[in-house]
Amino acid sequence: MAAETGTNGHRAGALDRRAGFSHAPIRAAVILPWERPDRHDAPRAADARLAEAVGLAAAIGLVVVHSATLPLRARRPSTLLGEGQVDLINRAIAGQSVTIVIVDAALTPVQQRNLERAWGCKVIDRTGLILEIFGERAATREGALQVELAHLDYQRSRLVRSWTHLERQRGGFGFLGGPGETQIEADRRLIGERIARLRKELEQVRRTRGLHRTARRRVPFPVVALVGYTNAGKSTLFNAMTGAGVYAKEQLFATLDPTMRGLGLPSGRRVILSDTVGFISELPTELVAAFRATLEEVAEADAILHVRDAAHPDTLTQRADVIGVLDGMARDGMIDPAWPGRLIEVLNKADLLGGVDRVPARNGAVAVSAITGEGIPALQAAIDTRIAEGMELADYAIAQGDGARLAWLYEHGEVIGRQDAEDAIRVRVRLLPADRARFERLA
Ligand code: GTP
Repeated sequence: MAAETGTNGHRAGALDRRAGFSHAPIRAAVILPWERPDRHDAPRAADARLAEAVGLAAAIGLVVVHSATLPLRARRPSTLLGEGQVDLINRAIAGQSVTIVIVDAALTPVQQRNLERAWGCKVIDRTGLILEIFGERAATREGALQVELAHLDYQRSRLVRSWTHLERQRGGFGFLGGPGETQIEADRRLIGERIARLRKELEQVRRTRGLHRTARRRVPFPVVALVGYTNAGKSTLFNAMTGAGVYAKEQLFATLDPTMRGLGLPSGRRVILSDTVGFISELPTELVAAFRATLEEVAEADAILHVRDAAHPDTLTQRADVIGVLDGMARDGMIDPAWPGRLIEVLNKADLLGGVDRVPARNGAVAVSAITGEGIPALQAAIDTRIAEGMELADYAIAQGDGARLAWLYEHGEVIGRQDAEDAIRVRVRLLPADRARFERLA
């Protein structure tokens, strides 16, 4: 199976710079060693996984000129893939000017190096690829630090392992102190020091996290965050709802930062819609912390839209993953433990299943097609309701002449009663809890 994926020049950044590439598009091949060929839905599941990997590669600006799934029956320590498979890829990429091959699996440093030799190009594995993506997408300081930490950890483990490998090759125990070994020792020490510094900085950032959050809460409207698996259609839905085509795209992660845009709901209420980094299947555990840090926007959200690809073969596993990550974040104090009360499940891609009426939507879930627009008015109404449910009733007496505070209540809340007396104006208003706290601080 071969695929051609469009390039996106400005996103070739991090990998480009580190590999010393020029700005010409980088041509790549994506290989999926498929470990579960016996799974009952193997062909469909493998296709979905390969499509995800190709999308991730395209997201960092690579032009994917070849992609293939190779059934993996035994893991060869030297190359992971079988000898014939290594040859097969070699022939497939010959003459294609491929500079990088992405192997969508975990490779040992030895396997990585052997494959680089066999194919005559750079090889990166799944963790390496995901780190590139997170590196480009981390928007907060905490996110950037977490990603760098994960990157250094990854590099350090590679150094350690290739060091033991060198030792074995030379038949020594590492006390001979050859020049290569000294270099590796020095690299390890430098990486170790950098990791220690980053950990300290991260601690510091975490301690002030609460403060930042209060500052960011100055966004004057309720926030609706979109979360979900990569390729579920978050960005397409974002565009369909906000009616702007700026972010229309064919490739994953084209949104550079967690993107925010204003949206008017049927009730006239205005909200801010915020897109986040997509979930990735079987995220390597060492990357979980980095990924969670990129999801921090969810902490601010008054409503969370969990966008699901209802037509994906792994849609239920994906759903459980998303819930698991949000639960974990709540346990660690990163988001409000009451987050499930703010959740709206969105079953996207209903067009692929025969329309919204054909999608079983339980427990308040809303079926939509971001492409055809079917179901979007119902989704907007559901957001309206969810936000209204989160509002609290409050009574205030505003001094006559305090027009600013009165105007604030009209702007941020729903004023449902008003009595103008001589000394004060008594107002009954529905406000979001965060707005209520802000108003009371204004006094
Ligand atoms: P990331 O940015 O990687 O997190 O992905 P995303 O969740 O934002 O997905 P995106 O909006 O980029 O959509 C992924 C692919 O699914 C694109 O090819 C879209 O055209 C397609 N897609 C999105 N919504 C729908 C839909 O309702 N129906 C169909 N058939 N395809 C859709």
